[in-house]
Amino acid sequence: MARVVAVNAHPEVTFEHELEALTPIGVAIERLRVGSDEELLAAAADADVVVPMGYRLSAAAVAGLVHCRHIPSGGIGVDHIDVEAATAHGILVTNMADTFVEEVANHTWMLLLLVARRGLWLHGMATSGRWAEALDQLFPVQRLAMPRVTGQTLGLVSFGRIARAVARRAQAFGMEVVAFDPYVADDVFAAHGVERVSVDEVFRRGDVVSCHLPWTAETTLMIGERYFRLMKPSAIFLNTGRGKVVDERGLIRALEEGRIAGAGLDVLEQEPPDPANPLLRMANVAITPHMASVSDVSSVARRRLLGRQIADALLARVPVGVVNPAALESWRGRGRWLV
Ligand SMILES: NC(=O)c1ccc[n+]([C@@H]2O[C@H](COP(=O)([O-])OP(=O)(O)OC[C@H]3O[C@@H](n4cnc5c(N)ncnc54)[C@H](O)[C@@H]3O)[C@@H](O)[C@H]2O)c1
Repeated sequence: MARVVAVNAHPEVTFEHELEALTPIGVAIERLRVGSDEELLAAAADADVVVPMGYRLSAAAVAGLVHCRHIPSGGIGVDHIDVEAATAHGILVTNMADTFVEEVANHTWMLLLLVARRGLWLHGMATSGRWAEALDQLFPVQRLAMPRVTGQTLGLVSFGRIARAVARRAQAFGMEVVAFDPYVADDVFAAHGVERVSVDEVFRRGDVVSCHLPWTAETTLMIGERYFRLMKPSAIFLNTGRGKVVDERGLIRALEEGRIAGAGLDVLEQEPPDPANPLLRMANVAITPHMASVSDVSSVARRRLLGRQIADALLARVPVGVVNPAALESWRGRGRWLV
């Protein structure tokens, strides 16, 4: 019997969608609550599949999972799993591939319009008895900047699945799109009608700069002061990727000094944030609590996919969403298959 262990799953998660693919092959999901790698390994060193939910799987923990063949991530990001260690031990790591790309792109678009069109301020004025006062700032003499968006340039940092979905929305709104991603081939940019530029050009040319970087050793604090200094004073910065890729002090300084016009953030360097974080009190900054992937559709689809990925991996079939294909060869030799 294969042992599938969900580490630190929320007590209300019942796994009914994951089990749709697992029950027919006689596999159950076991819950485990641990506070350390020692506790994890004491209880689950022989697990075939480990699902870290609200738990960070270190290289040492991965090395100690002697029979493990699969570590699925319930998200697109895999920064809570030591992927290098998994690859070294022939363990497949999978992610949610394109399950909620549209949700994150829609959320990015909401933040873009909310900040560009001063949605937070307008709502506050309209609902607090200051309707006429708000209009006084805008008609007949326009005292506040209010971009048209259409005709502006969107700069994308990274050009993966989510960034491409955001580019499609920008093009539908009549924006020009430029992007930086050293790992994407020229023909992909061309196929999407997006101009390939340097990272400096993204920040220089973007009226909106939207960041969709994964969090890796290379991208940690990659977006710092230097880049914010390249931006136009009228420009907006968005991040729905990962908070730890942005040096937040640089972003805060740029906003405080009026060197950029605003920001829309679903992710922060520290989550939940320190209540003293100045970003929480800025009128031109829209913040959501790292939930861009959520929708009625994705909340079920992500769990079904997780179950299918586990079933496939246990049946020696390569699951969708493998992020470390380099592990495939040694994974095939790891044995203990259900078939
Ligand atoms: N806010 C949320 O709820 C939420 C939800 C889903 C995903 N995310 C984040 O969004 C990220 C992107 O998701 P995706 O589906 O587009 O992933 P993806 O794997 O399709 O694309 C990531 C892109 O980043 C590029 N990249 C990597 N390192 C880079 C670097 N140093 N410079 C420039 N580009 C670089 C890669 O080449 C790739 O094209 C995920 O890694 C995840 O962390 C956040």
